[in-house]
Amino acid sequence: MGGEVWKLLQWFFFLLTMCPLQIHAMDGEMWKLLQRFIALRTVSADPAADNEFAHAENFLTAALASLGFSVQTFPTAEHHPILLGTRGSANAPTALLIYGHYDVQPANCDGQWSSDPFFLVERDGKLYGRGVADDKGPIAAILSALRSAGDLPNLRITFVLEGSEEIGSPSFLDFLKTNHGNMRADAAIVLDTGCPEELRPAITTSLRGILPFEVCLTTGERDLHSGFGGCVPNAIQELLRLCSRLHGPDGRVAVPGFYDGISLAGCDCVSVATGEDEQFAKEMGVRNLQCLFPQLPRHAVHGVLPSLDFNGIWSGYQGLGSKTIIPAVASAKFTVRTVAGQDQSAMGHAVEQFLKSHAPAHCQLSVKMSTAAPAYGLDWKRLDGKFIQLFSSLESAVEAAFGTKPVHRREGGSIGVVSAFWDVLGLDSMLLGVVPPESRIHASDENWSMESFWRTQLALEYFFKNIDQEH
Ligand code: BES
Ligand code: MN
Ligand code: MN
Repeated sequence: MGGEVWKLLQWFFFLLTMCPLQIHAMDGEMWKLLQRFIALRTVSADPAADNEFAHAENFLTAALASLGFSVQTFPTAEHHPILLGTRGSANAPTALLIYGHYDVQPANCDGQWSSDPFFLVERDGKLYGRGVADDKGPIAAILSALRSAGDLPNLRITFVLEGSEEIGSPSFLDFLKTNHGNMRADAAIVLDTGCPEELRPAITTSLRGILPFEVCLTTGERDLHSGFGGCVPNAIQELLRLCSRLHGPDGRVAVPGFYDGISLAGCDCVSVATGEDEQFAKEMGVRNLQCLFPQLPRHAVHGVLPSLDFNGIWSGYQGLGSKTIIPAVASAKFTVRTVAGQDQSAMGHAVEQFLKSHAPAHCQLSVKMSTAAPAYGLDWKRLDGKFIQLFSSLESAVEAAFGTKPVHRREGGSIGVVSAFWDVLGLDSMLLGVVPPESRIHASDENWSMESFWRTQLALEYFFKNIDQEH
């Protein structure tokens, strides 16, 4: 079928989907699959979850096998197997690599859930459950699209499912290095980023890198009676003073060189539509957005600038009532987010140096840096013709399913494997974001709308069929 005819047909189908009588429901089989998927407590941060990961391995192997994939699984040091499904001829004219992660964040990190986080429910057109937006729901949408698309003789698909994304993908690089032989592809596709609002998908043009730190400051051998207050150092006070030096009064990170190598390309620096910052603040549940660089639209800063944010800080007495002590030890965790074009390891060392040089001599300080995920940016100049062809096919398919072209935007979050695909396989990724801020990823009441699910799977079905026919 010619491309034009196919496009017209897609528009016709799209108009049909706008019909108010159409019910954007999930069929029973898909519902059951997603329900079983959500019920698996694949919390990668939980060392006692090995069993759940073993169940997930079987469950996903069966799901992929039923779609014609031959599946291999690879054990990892964290006991979260990596699944590799392949389908179609190695000589097929087009090869796609699809990536998703089946691990989730712990469920009770903040607030309360309105229902059991590991039991999929639907309320007011939205699906609720841990992972329903990040990333089990989008994976289910891909499986559903493959099922609807049926046979795709001209398409080779490699489907990689990872179980340690939420803990920084510590084994993935090694896995890639030893298995890249059978992972050749023209483009990778990843559905694991956000979009500005429901039913307005995004193409993510860059991801930030992440560098996790843990600092521990010690002032003495043991906690002391606070009656000694005033004559001995206090670890909490010392740590707070040290940590607060990391940001200047203007909110910018004070570490020398922290903003080196940034590029504002792709960031609309002049025109901020009125109300956009206010709207974003409202969605985030905060009263105001920070203003670090007045020339940048505040709501877009997290995609464009590096940042340093504390994630946890602890010391001293946290129980009921009071306990009069002077703590000897205090610790904090923070993460540095870097942007594409920056030298991440130089930044890590600069931060470490900064802390060490500002720690008072009477304090002992340890600084630990753990596995980093590098930043990634689509570099339009390096993309080859085949990638661009797939990219525009994806954009048309999204437009046909959602009635709107995806917006291009830079993300503040990180996905470790995406830069590894480039480094090891020379493979660029199409990051299709379908999850809006109200999906509350990593928080309580994580959700994804049924209509998003449904249109996402429709977009992918169009995409797969298109590239199969247009090769
Ligand atoms: N899906 C997110 C990444 C994401 C979130 C991208 C929002 C864009 C917008 C992913 O699952 C995630 O949470 N990544 C972690 C990685 C970290 C644990 C190494 C992150 O960004 O904190
Ligand atoms: Mn994710
Ligand atoms: Mn996540």
